[in-house]
Amino acid sequence: MRKKIVAGNWKMNLLPEEALELYRKIDSDYFADACELLVFPPAVYVMELIGQHGKVPVGVQNFHPEESGAFTGEISVSQVSSCGAKYALVGHSERRMIFNESNDFLKKKINAALAHDIVPLVCCGEPMEIRDVEGHVAFVTNQLAETIGHLTVSELERCIIAYEPVWAIGTGRTASIDQAQEMHASIRQWLKNHFGEHVGAVTPILYGGSCNASNASELFACPDVDGGLIGGASLDAASFLKIARSF
Ligand code: 13P
Repeated sequence: MRKKIVAGNWKMNLLPEEALELYRKIDSDYFADACELLVFPPAVYVMELIGQHGKVPVGVQNFHPEESGAFTGEISVSQVSSCGAKYALVGHSERRMIFNESNDFLKKKINAALAHDIVPLVCCGEPMEIRDVEGHVAFVTNQLAETIGHLTVSELERCIIAYEPVWAIGTGRTASIDQAQEMHASIRQWLKNHFGEHVGAVTPILYGGSCNASNASELFACPDVDGGLIGGASLDAASFLKIARSF
């Protein structure tokens, strides 16, 4: 009843010909019945990849919530939607930590995305020091309260959530099955409490953090894990497609 989604966050990797080749391989080998796939390439490649008219939607890793103006180096959400992108990452821990994006700023980004018919893939996740003191559920639900807590039910229905524990990103250290399931179930319960049983039950919640072709099937077998947001392992078409077939 919930969508299964595997999304590739290419981060700041790949040269133009590599990005095009990766997209073409993923798109040509992909069986749409396994799950939905999404890719998030660096912004400079987005238009060319959308121009391939493939089956796999292409989203942006970042945008600015303002409509236009003096924001050197930024891309507005109207520019993103005019280029044909339909998905955007919001709240990735690298944006939060390296670029100081606060919950308040992320809330503006989510509002801007929804106002332009872009699906925000809203990321949340705790750093190690919070997990060490058992504060992870409170920390993550607070991130959600401050970024999506204000949405209407119909707005939330257009969002995808990704739980990415900061300590698992790019470290080769994946959350255990119990850790992933505990947090996904807590996120789902929080969604049900705030938005109602139905929307909480149907919102896709993806896991991210050192998810790869070897561990995806056990993670995706967790009842509240609906797929993955994949970094490193999404840069290789064969491993990304293997993850997509891990349900
Ligand atoms: P890795 O899969 O490389 O750990 O990255 C996860 C991530 O940050 C996806 O957004």
